[in-house]
Amino acid sequence: MSLDLALIGGTGLYQFPGLVVSERVRPDTPFGAPSGDIVIGELAGKRVAFLARHGESHTIAPHRVNYRANVFALHALGAKRVIGVNAVGGIRADMGPKVVVIPDQIIDYTHGRFTSFCDVDGAKVDHIDFSEPYTESLRQSLIAAAARAGVEVVKDGCYGATQGPRLETRAEIARMQRDGSDLVGMTGMPEAALARELGLEYACIALIANWAAGCGDQAEISLDEIFANLAECTAQVPKIVSAMLVG
Ligand code: HPA
Repeated sequence: MSLDLALIGGTGLYQFPGLVVSERVRPDTPFGAPSGDIVIGELAGKRVAFLARHGESHTIAPHRVNYRANVFALHALGAKRVIGVNAVGGIRADMGPKVVVIPDQIIDYTHGRFTSFCDVDGAKVDHIDFSEPYTESLRQSLIAAAARAGVEVVKDGCYGATQGPRLETRAEIARMQRDGSDLVGMTGMPEAALARELGLEYACIALIANWAAGCGDQAEISLDEIFANLAECTAQVPKIVSAMLVG
């Protein structure tokens, strides 16, 4: 049976509020096991799957997430549209803590991750068009849904994906800013590219937990503050997603 939507939750989102779960599956894939059980259920009258990217107890670091298994498994379960929810740091002046962003571009600074389904002996090599890394129609659906739900979002932004798990130095963030990155997170890639390789529609809801190193008025980044800010903006996600599903 197909799915109306698949959601991949990031830091602070380990179960999806409002999702009435009817099934739990953990399919094996040619790339290994996904991050945990995929829960399937009903949200706003639609069939929706949810997967916690870091595991339900947050035990998988960003560079150790099996992005290929996660994306492959959701595709195999019948997903056509995937929304990744990602905690990020804000770089651009309008991207302070607690702001919700629907990014439209990506710069990939990660390394040593499996970035493609073509990384397998004998697999046919594909060169996906990734000029627009997010599916514009899905992005616009999220933006329109946020407006209907009364949730303020920033409608664009370039997501700089770093390796983690450490946070960045001020110099690294300054370089990213010169490059054009507006946000910084550790999990946006290779998830988006893998989704494109499988022909999935993919968009991101980025939740700003903190000012990135050296930005805003933040002297030091504390984990407590990150989690407190995240809890506030994570509460907006079900509102946006439910409004999108209701259409
Ligand atoms: N940098 C990278 N990833 C993050 C940050 C950050 O400052 N905050 C939340 N995720």
